[in-house]
Amino acid sequence: MTLTWKDRAADRMAYLQDGIITEILKLTQRPDIISFAGGLPAPEFFPKARVAEATQRVMASPSASQALQYGLTEGYIPLREMVMAEMTAAGYPCSLDNILIVSGSQQGLDLAGKAYINRGDRILVEEPTYLGMLDAWRMYGAEFVSVATDDSGMIPEALEQTLKSVQAKLIYLVPTFQNPTGVTTPEERRAEIVRLARQYDVGIVEDDPYGQLRYEGETLPTVLAVDARQNPDSPVGGNVIYLNSFSKTLCPGLRLAWMAAPAEVIERVSKAKSNSDLHTSTFGQAVAYEVARDGFIEQHIQVLRKVYGERRDLMLHLMEDTFPSEVTWTEPAGGLFVWLRLPEGVNSVDVLKTAIQEHKVAYVPGTAFSSNGGGAATARLNFSNAPPDKIEEGIRRLAMVFEQACAQAANIKA
Ligand SMILES: Cc1ncc(COP(=O)(O)O)c(C=O)c1O
Repeated sequence: MTLTWKDRAADRMAYLQDGIITEILKLTQRPDIISFAGGLPAPEFFPKARVAEATQRVMASPSASQALQYGLTEGYIPLREMVMAEMTAAGYPCSLDNILIVSGSQQGLDLAGKAYINRGDRILVEEPTYLGMLDAWRMYGAEFVSVATDDSGMIPEALEQTLKSVQAKLIYLVPTFQNPTGVTTPEERRAEIVRLARQYDVGIVEDDPYGQLRYEGETLPTVLAVDARQNPDSPVGGNVIYLNSFSKTLCPGLRLAWMAAPAEVIERVSKAKSNSDLHTSTFGQAVAYEVARDGFIEQHIQVLRKVYGERRDLMLHLMEDTFPSEVTWTEPAGGLFVWLRLPEGVNSVDVLKTAIQEHKVAYVPGTAFSSNGGGAATARLNFSNAPPDKIEEGIRRLAMVFEQACAQAANIKA
């Protein structure tokens, strides 16, 4: 036997990153490490009793067998109806044909790529952007073009310049409490981006898993709703594929999310989904529906807003008190992440090794979120997962790590 499984691997596997960061981050699973790396919810606030009760209700109901049977690719109808009502109330008047349940937004991204991206297609992205999308769409041969982004998201003037010079197929946006920066794109910019996308015939994918986790300020209309408002004659024939998820508002273990889009997109993506997994777990969808119904999910989101808002405040306050003055950061009004900017010359991948080995604390280096090899002097911190005492201790340790890294960078410069 001369050929190994490595030799037999499909060419598309070469598009995946070499995984150095993944390897380093595996270390963060060790119990002695305080990790601000993962984008994980707080496990102590998972609605365990409600899930247990909902599971029993599903199994005791006359439709228990339906929950254990194969189902529709598009998803469990009561859950789709619930989502449809929510989307309509949020400014996207739609019908069941516009809603597809997927196994996490990550699957929604993968399926959107499968259905719409050809090798060499140009995709315009914020810089930095969500790494799960970069990995998923690289597999389909996407070529990413980063558009200048500031603390209010993608800059419309920069987008227009790029649209003039690059023939793009899609714009990918996480416009609300972005992963990784926590930044939100204001309404005027949303309107401008929507207008430009139509003018230059480019579709938009809006990824919105954090929009409901707002700790201050007013709710903004989604890019999907802005597009529907700007084009009242064709709201559901719109130019946006929208993704939202139950991962951050209920629990990620259910692997449940949804896509809202024009019916023909839902039809095409459903075919792609059927090839992958036939449908999302019927049982999981029936349980999630029972958990979420009768206003429970709204109440639960209120609890999360309070808890995560307090954790964000604590982390920002401690950073202000202890981090070296050369380090700056975003102040997110919601979501799960703070984005750090370190002084020039600091390499956050190297610093992470020291942070883990010597101080037992972790974050994600910014390079993981860059589509163009940038981001060396940046890092992402999560504030939702660690309880307050761990946030205090972890930030104390990180302050020492960054103190040392900034001093070293200054010495090299001198
Ligand atoms: C922007 C973004 N999109 C998609 C996902 C994937 O979420 P899900 O658990 O719904 O697959 C995440 C998860 O962190 C995310 O931050």
